[in-house]
Amino acid sequence: MTSRNGRSHELVIRHARVLDPSTGLDAVKDVRISGGRVAEVGDDLHGTRELGADGLYLFPGFVDVHAHWRTPGREDEETIESGSASAAVGGFTGVVMMPNTDPVVDKPVVVSGLLRRIEQESRVRAYVSAALHVGLKGERLTEMRLLKEAGALCVSDDGLGTQSAGVLRNAMLYASSAGLPVLLHCEDHTLATGVVHDGTAAALAGIPGSPASAEDVATATALVLATETGAKSHITHISTGLSAALVRFFADHADVTSDTTPHHLTLTDDLISSLEGTYRVNPPLRPEDHRDAVTDALRDGTLDFVATDHAPHASEEKDLPLEQAAPGFLGHETAFAALHTELVLTGKLPLARLVEAMSCAPGRWVGEGGSLAVGSPADLTLVDPSEEWTVDRGSLSSRSWNSPYLGRRLTGRVVGTIVGGELVLDRTGAKFGVRA
Ligand code: DOR
Repeated sequence: MTSRNGRSHELVIRHARVLDPSTGLDAVKDVRISGGRVAEVGDDLHGTRELGADGLYLFPGFVDVHAHWRTPGREDEETIESGSASAAVGGFTGVVMMPNTDPVVDKPVVVSGLLRRIEQESRVRAYVSAALHVGLKGERLTEMRLLKEAGALCVSDDGLGTQSAGVLRNAMLYASSAGLPVLLHCEDHTLATGVVHDGTAAALAGIPGSPASAEDVATATALVLATETGAKSHITHISTGLSAALVRFFADHADVTSDTTPHHLTLTDDLISSLEGTYRVNPPLRPEDHRDAVTDALRDGTLDFVATDHAPHASEEKDLPLEQAAPGFLGHETAFAALHTELVLTGKLPLARLVEAMSCAPGRWVGEGGSLAVGSPADLTLVDPSEEWTVDRGSLSSRSWNSPYLGRRLTGRVVGTIVGGELVLDRTGAKFGVRA
């Protein structure tokens, strides 16, 4: 990572409200960072560099297990540099890159090439998901053992999903023997024939919809196969009430985790009445009853964490009528603020559960970060909970601008992101300075 220069600065962050569900800490404390790790959490700590963080929250760094940095192939939409800058702005200290690129990440040389570029270009920790099948075509298995040796963290057919149950079963068995978790995009293409959720909003707008069963049937298949094969599985972007209930049912049977997205937790399909391509996403935005069921499932821990599915698209792919637009939303930069505004400040989700879902649980999943326990990597996120801001194109660090929150006023903003002890985002200048 360019911004982490290997110098082991000592840094003391003073008087932040430190909230770390991994250790049960929620108190105003000082945190001392040394050698890139959390060295001490206590009172009245001092060091060669100090940051006064009165009034700010300090969390373990957010980790995003689902992002599209469009590299290789669509660097006009996102690069490792811009994707990681966008992640840092959103407080993410670790990100998993999806393999639906051009070329697809289905060969060890693509994995190792990406890891080299991450080392040089990324401001945050980044991990590579390789493909489950060659070309994401659901036909030939990738060489998962070699992909793992090259450094892949997991395997996925994200973006499309695996369409045949028999093919998925084999892939799970092989991934399991290679020691790689499978990240599952659950979508049955024989049911997903529309572009939005098939409901009242679709009917009123006159846009073809896909039923919720397009997700639920594929989720049920994945859960049954995960149970039978024992494969370590992660179901991503759960957006329906029934899929959440299925995960709840299978939790005791399968080695399975799951996530949902900020947009499925905060937006509904009434937005499609504008007919704007901006609001096309996959899985589609759903009506309120699904959104509320998914929120309940996140709150009670059925769904383990939040992942953004950060999916940048160029203007010519989004500035179109809904039916012609590419599916996908930017996610990194608005995730915390949207969830804080819509769920925490409205009393629907405790702040500690949100931090567990954005930091601790995904950190455990990637095997790095997500805790401020002494000795942990010094990956931290500083938030001003009272800052109000409006999402606008000019404020985005991504190369793309396809955020569904454009124009919205949000409360709570990431003001500092620290990776391995280095400040990779510092919007704190006006609030506090570094005393060298
Ligand atoms: O809306 C989406 N966009 N969903 C996906 O699964 C893929 C993503 C993309 O790559 O654009």
